[in-house]
Amino acid sequence: MNKLYFGDNLEILREIDDARVHLICTDPPFNSGRDYNAFIRDSLAQKKAFTDTWTWDTAAQDARADIERRAHTSDTYKALDECLKGYDAVLRRAVSGNKGAMRAYLAFMGPRLAEMHRVLTPTGSIYLHCDATASHYLKCVMDAIWNQANRKDNDFFRNEIVWHYQAGTAPKTAFGRKHDTIFFYRKSRNSCFHRQSKPVRNPDRYKFVDENGRKYDVNGVGKRYYLDEGQTCDDVWTYVQEKQFQQLNSQSKERLGYPTQKPRALYERMIKASSNEGDIVLDPFCGCGTTIDAAHTLKRQWMGIDLTILALDPMRQRLADRHGLQPSIDYHIEGYPTNMQEVRKLLKEGDKRKYHDFSNWAVTRLGLNPTRDVGDGGHDGAGHVTLWNPQQMKETDARILAEVKTGKPTITQVRAFCQVMTQNNAEIGIFITLEPVSAGMRQQAEEMGTFEHNVQTYPRLQFWQIDDAYFANPEIINTLVRLPAEWRLRPTQKSERHFDDRQTHFLRG
Ligand SMILES: C[S@@+](CC[C@H](N)C(=O)[O-])C[C@H]1O[C@@H](n2cnc3c(N)ncnc32)[C@H](O)[C@@H]1O
Repeated sequence: MNKLYFGDNLEILREIDDARVHLICTDPPFNSGRDYNAFIRDSLAQKKAFTDTWTWDTAAQDARADIERRAHTSDTYKALDECLKGYDAVLRRAVSGNKGAMRAYLAFMGPRLAEMHRVLTPTGSIYLHCDATASHYLKCVMDAIWNQANRKDNDFFRNEIVWHYQAGTAPKTAFGRKHDTIFFYRKSRNSCFHRQSKPVRNPDRYKFVDENGRKYDVNGVGKRYYLDEGQTCDDVWTYVQEKQFQQLNSQSKERLGYPTQKPRALYERMIKASSNEGDIVLDPFCGCGTTIDAAHTLKRQWMGIDLTILALDPMRQRLADRHGLQPSIDYHIEGYPTNMQEVRKLLKEGDKRKYHDFSNWAVTRLGLNPTRDVGDGGHDGAGHVTLWNPQQMKETDARILAEVKTGKPTITQVRAFCQVMTQNNAEIGIFITLEPVSAGMRQQAEEMGTFEHNVQTYPRLQFWQIDDAYFANPEIINTLVRLPAEWRLRPTQKSERHFDDRQTHFLRG
């Protein structure tokens, strides 16, 4: 069954068997030095979807140490390790600045590329989307990995595709940067490839008409070239010749508001060229699901992975709107429950990652950002909102925190959360449970008092018990949890509006 995974792709890739996937088309972070925001579904809230800023911190150093450890037992990791050691010299072992960032980025990408190589079938191929920031480094990392596995066969590298688009302005001291790079590698000589065609550049040249009314041109030796067959695609894919390759802008119908979303036509071309109907297509950095949508359109099976749950919401909507697909019925989502049975299954396995997935899912239902594992001092989700008070004609910043408890909640946990709220100056705290809270806990909530905004009062400490009623009607969240209107969740609005970035009055998570 087609699958979407929510979580870190390195862990998930490592759970996939060798030689399972026919084609990988993927668009990872580029080391752009930027963080990207997205509009969260069912809310007007804009949240940080993913970060693309890198530092040579302990996480990066641990990733490098892990590559070194694996190099003792794996030829692929040995090749990767040697390549990265070479880059250490090039980057002068920098621990800060751009060079330190590049080292951290490569320590992140290297093992993921090694696992992508492993999961490809012997006839599989990969398209890796990147840009000039790191493409030269990534190509050598791929060469190292593919080379060691194909010692006899060194024609695994097929193309450096240039995707030419129109966007942004030109820098003052350089030429405008208007293209991305897509590396196309195959795993062996037996990989499939179907030539693709594009519209001819000069249709006026096709002056002849055959007995069936088809226009054609002839070359010096009398070979006919038909206008309706187009011309063979080369490695420059430009919006100038093919409008569908224009980068998505705020006017594009295809746009969902997820940052860095790519045009579907790009991914359709890769999939048509390098796979057959029924093949499995994987995108381990799938964002809002451009590869997935393209794969489904072309009748391929698919697997998508993304770290941020904010990507799964637009993707789910897209699969429903474009293909009429429903989670749990037409495809499976791991790490994103769609009913209580899935919640229990997720938590029963006692897997820490799955618990994190659940906690992230729960806090993002409230429009909050997951905060676990970032030294948050005891809460699972947080968010800021700027509230406008028309009586006082002023804005106030409000902070909301959430804590998720999957076992039987205790009064000690509730008290500890109240302390966290106080320490963090949070106006409102939501204590999320799967089991009912006791009268003592409700008393504690009473003692926390209320928050006032626009002549309304909201309990400062609130409880949300997730149950079947929520899954049957997610809109019920607005009666279970009482928040100022700016925070209200809006499951009934049309999906396009959820991701409309003209809704600018609501801010940062
Ligand atoms: C450039 S975007 C992909 C956009 C996608 N091509 C689309 O059209 O929507 C990169 C994605 O990689 C995801 N990502 C970053 N690190 C990840 C990780 N360790 N595991 C899984 N996904 C990750 C980000 O959340 C982001 O959605």
